[in-house]
Amino acid sequence: MVRNFDERPVPPETLEQILANAQRGPSAGFTQGLDLLVLVGPGQTGRFWAAVSPDRGFEGRGWPGVYRAPVVVVPLAHRQAYLDRYAEPDKGWTDRDGARWPVPYWYVDAAFATMLALLSAVDAGLGALFFGIREPAAFRAAFGVPDDREPIGAIALGYPAPDRPSRSLRRGRRPSESVVHRGGW
Ligand SMILES: Cc1cc2nc3c(=O)[nH]c(=O)nc-3n(C[C@H](O)[C@H](O)[C@H](O)COP(=O)(O)O)c2cc1C
Repeated sequence: MVRNFDERPVPPETLEQILANAQRGPSAGFTQGLDLLVLVGPGQTGRFWAAVSPDRGFEGRGWPGVYRAPVVVVPLAHRQAYLDRYAEPDKGWTDRDGARWPVPYWYVDAAFATMLALLSAVDAGLGALFFGIREPAAFRAAFGVPDDREPIGAIALGYPAPDRPSRSLRRGRRPSESVVHRGGW
């Protein structure tokens, strides 16, 4: 993740490649219950920041350059699409009971798509930040997003500028031996 961007716009063909790759992620039952809201340029991104970051929180924490990102992509999960898909005959969960789901695949799939977008951005020489949207209602209202679509966060995209890493990184990376359990826990 980078939290500082320079002024250069993202070339349209690069953005299209990132969006195309994000749509090639796997999805449970091939539901494809993903939407991507794409905001380009200060007019659109400015409305986004006004809705979701009225306190300019990144600036307060020393990362004003986040707001310079020329592109913001919001991946949205659609729970109902999965409940409907899994009510089809080959799946058979006709009661559409959300409690059946051991893991909410609508979030899993939206996260896969997000990771593809992040990898594609880095592959194209861009930088990106994935961050949480703490004001989903304000976000929906600003862009006419239906109530049944849930933003899982947002991706700021652009050419990276010199950056101050997150303090979280001081935690260090967990050693592989504590993460990978070979042959048993
Ligand atoms: C689900 C999720 C939510 C995150 N939310 C934020 C956020 O709100 N603000 C932020 O600055 N970074 C956020 N991050 C970025 C993490 O802080 C970052 O990925 C982590 O510190 C590791 O750094 P790296 O991705 O550069 O390796 C988020 C990452 C994930 C996966």
